[in-house]
Amino acid sequence: MINNYFWIGISLFLAGILLLVYSLQIPKDVTSIDWNQFGVITAVKDQYPTRCPNVSWAFASVASIEGLMGIKEISRLSSINHQHLLQKPKAEYLKILEKYSQNYSQDNLSEQQILDCTPKEDNCFGGKMNDAYQFALDYGIVDYSLIYYVAQKQICPIDNKQQSVFNITGYSVQSGCESLKKLIFQQPVAVKINYSNLEDFISFDIDKDIISTNYCSQKQSQEVKYQYVLVTAYDGKTFTIKNSEGVNWGYQGYAKIDATTDNTCNICEEIYYPSQN
Ligand SMILES: *[C@@H]1O[C@H](CO)[C@@H](O)[C@H](O)[C@H]1NC(C)=O
Ligand SMILES: *[C@@H]1O[C@H](CO)[C@@H](O)[C@H](O)[C@H]1NC(C)=O
Ligand SMILES: *[C@@H]1O[C@H](CO)[C@@H](O)[C@H](O)[C@H]1NC(C)=O
Ligand SMILES: *[C@@H]1O[C@H](CO)[C@@H](O)[C@H](O)[C@H]1NC(C)=O
Ligand SMILES: *[C@@H]1O[C@H](CO)[C@@H](O)[C@H](O)[C@H]1NC(C)=O
Repeated sequence: MINNYFWIGISLFLAGILLLVYSLQIPKDVTSIDWNQFGVITAVKDQYPTRCPNVSWAFASVASIEGLMGIKEISRLSSINHQHLLQKPKAEYLKILEKYSQNYSQDNLSEQQILDCTPKEDNCFGGKMNDAYQFALDYGIVDYSLIYYVAQKQICPIDNKQQSVFNITGYSVQSGCESLKKLIFQQPVAVKINYSNLEDFISFDIDKDIISTNYCSQKQSQEVKYQYVLVTAYDGKTFTIKNSEGVNWGYQGYAKIDATTDNTCNICEEIYYPSQN
């Protein structure tokens, strides 16, 4: 009897060791991504809210196109196309992004061109994400330095096509927090959020301060601010957003927004992203 228990004990012990060795070899499931680590996010820009209070649609759409442009270039450098990259296990996918992003130098694209060339006359006071993407689809988009931002609508230059540095071939809108958590691994996406107390967002501490429901605007009122921002990162608990109100907003232009509560400030309601075949 004692002998039997002894051998059962030994076997269980050995099985335990085997299991441990085996499980150490399985890569941990990746639950976070930060596109800033791969150099596809440009420096924080300033829409000059005093002159253009409601032009974040142009900044967020362009930021998402800058992101896609970077990813396409990284995938070209790696000789693995974006779709194939996405099918790889996440840990391997991130490794490839990290490796080849070292040789990618990011490009700034022009919000002013979007502002000038989309149909609405008072664009600084509101515009449509879809108009921005449709323009980039029809004409491509030029470098920031060619048509730099002046915070007022100007005449659309005619000669856009030849000078465009990046063309998209499509764009999509989705909703739902599961979609957002999935899409953020594919590319930085633009979202619409609502918030109220603007002064709350000055001098944010990125490690401590998180935008939670009480920062969102609870009712339809004149103080409601809708802002399109870029989601640049997800860490399982928070989304990081990049705003376009300069580096004094939030933490150097960024803030974290609670992802443990569903749809904080309606962040999962309108998710926009461009694509290129
Ligand atoms: C992009 O433009 C902004 C100006 O808003 C500038 O601060 C930044 O350095 C530029 N980045 C690149 C890579 O050109
Ligand atoms: C990056 O560029 C350098 C210099 O051109 C080259 O030696 C290196 O192999 C490249 N790295 C990758 C990951 O492509
Ligand atoms: C900003 O523009 C959007 C879209 O055009 C509009 O729904 C919203 O009411 C505007 N917000 C402000 C504060 O003007
Ligand atoms: C974008 O497409 C236009 C034609 O529609 C073309 O003239 C231009 O060279 C393209 N730009 C790039 C960067 O591929
Ligand atoms: C803002 O988002 C919150 C969700 O966190 C939602 O409850 C609230 O109704 C939204 N406010 C407006 C004005 O849409």
